[in-house]
Amino acid sequence: MQRKLSDIQHVLILGSGTLGLRIGLQSALSGFDTTIYDIHEQALNSAKKIQGKILNGLIKEEKISAEEAEASKARISFTTDIQSAAPQADFVSESVTEDVELKKKVWAELAPLWKKEAVLTTNTSYLLPSMFAEESGMPERFCAFHFHDVFWANVVDIMPHPGTEEWIIGLLKEMGLKLNQTPVIVSKESPGYIFNAMLMAFIGAAGALLTNEVATVEDIDRSWMGNFKMQTGPFGIIDSVGLDTAWHVTISLKDNQSQRFAKLLKSYIDQGKLGVKTGEGFYKYPKPAYVEEDFVKGV
Ligand SMILES: NC(=O)c1ccc[n+]([C@@H]2O[C@H](COP(=O)([O-])OP(=O)(O)OC[C@H]3O[C@@H](n4cnc5c(N)ncnc54)[C@H](O)[C@@H]3O)[C@@H](O)[C@H]2O)c1
Repeated sequence: MQRKLSDIQHVLILGSGTLGLRIGLQSALSGFDTTIYDIHEQALNSAKKIQGKILNGLIKEEKISAEEAEASKARISFTTDIQSAAPQADFVSESVTEDVELKKKVWAELAPLWKKEAVLTTNTSYLLPSMFAEESGMPERFCAFHFHDVFWANVVDIMPHPGTEEWIIGLLKEMGLKLNQTPVIVSKESPGYIFNAMLMAFIGAAGALLTNEVATVEDIDRSWMGNFKMQTGPFGIIDSVGLDTAWHVTISLKDNQSQRFAKLLKSYIDQGKLGVKTGEGFYKYPKPAYVEEDFVKGV
């Protein structure tokens, strides 16, 4: 049965990490009753705190009022009980860890719980929706709906797999607009959609410069920032994406150079340095060196 945007009232987010918490917050700000699910209670608590900070930032920037922030909080519930949450969902957005076997397992476990009218989406960065569409139990209602960072970079990719019914694309386009995103259609399955395909080539080039000891993290970032007048360079970007997510993508690329870079990323991950979310990656947060006034000047 086809659904319209007005049929969607209850949004369920799977995974309350970096992206899940942001998609969930935007969903609530856009007026949807939103449930955020994670297997880890601690991840839900941390999501709540980060959402509070994002809301304060949006109030400060006068993008929302304090009343809108409170109303959005009231629309969000957090749970580790998926058996109760899943059957209510009209729209599902999955943001669990970027690991194909895990995603297959999660979708297969949840398949019996969906109502038959639900629309199912994955926020995977580099996997293809056809890799776990069958596991979702409703492949014809399953599509990639991929966000970037939701509030700052607000473009959403809509990428069907060959079995996605056509009407889903139109619905996701409307849903993207409702969630304050710019929707772009990726007509056929392609790793990394549009922006990430370009970004990965850029990050891979930075990784090659570093692992081949051509230049330091700081000079590589400085070069990009100074030439393009950007606020961050490739390693600052990896810190905000998460070194673990970058590692999952890099390790899946089989060429020697990518494998060398994956090894370097893993050495940071093993020390608990996952980037902004753990307070340290290539830089230390909340005040990384690249935000200092003199960083780009190189003095
Ligand atoms: N980080 C980014 O910038 C970014 C951007 C776009 C898309 N994505 C994609 O979003 C997804 C999540 O990435 P992230 O950066 O938010 O990762 P993250 O590590 O910050 O969060 C992943 C969350 O999934 C939870 N999780 C793990 N197993 C689970 C399970 N079985 N059931 C429920 N929850 C489970 C973890 O507890 C964690 O809270 C990935 O597919 C990633 O490619 C990430």
